[in-house]
Amino acid sequence: MTPATTWRSGWDMDNPLDIKTELVRKDGGTWEQGPVAGLEYRDLHLAANTDGALVGRHVRYTGKEGDASTDWQFHDADFQWFFVLNGSISVRTEDGQDLVLDKGASAYQPPYWRYRISAVSDDFEGVEVFGPSDYGTVTGKDAPKPKRAAEFAHLKGVYTFDRPDAYVRGDGPRRWSLYRDLGTRIPTDGRVHIHIIKLDEIEPSPPGGTGEHYHSMAQFFLPIRGWLDVARPGEPNQRVFAGDLMTLSRGSIHNAFDVSPDYMTLEFCVPAEYSTVATAAK
Ligand SMILES: [Fe+2]
Repeated sequence: MTPATTWRSGWDMDNPLDIKTELVRKDGGTWEQGPVAGLEYRDLHLAANTDGALVGRHVRYTGKEGDASTDWQFHDADFQWFFVLNGSISVRTEDGQDLVLDKGASAYQPPYWRYRISAVSDDFEGVEVFGPSDYGTVTGKDAPKPKRAAEFAHLKGVYTFDRPDAYVRGDGPRRWSLYRDLGTRIPTDGRVHIHIIKLDEIEPSPPGGTGEHYHSMAQFFLPIRGWLDVARPGEPNQRVFAGDLMTLSRGSIHNAFDVSPDYMTLEFCVPAEYSTVATAAK
């Protein structure tokens, strides 16, 4: 498939990005000032693990140095997306939307999409992913957009919310899980699929979990609630808790052998279309 958009970081669904495997604990790294005054940022090692094709940050409100509102701005980028872990963030967009993105909401915004942050709640916390890691920011309501913006002009922001009817059981590799699609597959020309996966008491995860398997994609997942036990050949078992982030490279074998009944996770997959292959009998 020929993608409609060209990314500076040079990958597409047929030549997908890989992400090196790492477990980044929720208390790992340091909080630092970043692009928006009033927010602070903790690096999630995506830039290091993708050679700069992506950058990911855990973000929270501090109120120091500013109230986290911004001027109108756009990003000279391939990709921009964020997810609200707690509290809310209010955003105005170039097509006249005035949005309050509350806990569990997701925002895909195309490159060169003009927007401003109008308010952030005191308890705001989120995760954001941009690509490439050296993307640019241009401020001003009338700042001219570069020529490359025309390639992305057909795209609009995709905002989704954590509502019960957004979940579909079995709409992913596991028939018992509930999946909520965050709408990035089409605007990224099949490069990125992001979804929320959760469990419920109606159809719990079977004993033994997923069994050993691999995917034809690279990914990261960040549990929002509960925990997941992961086994990988040659590695000690790891319990991944809410707030931790685990990257898994394309084709790496793993077994999610146990999980808390209330488990809910964000999962970011490249490319969007992939297969899952069982490698051992459960
Ligand atoms: Fe998996």
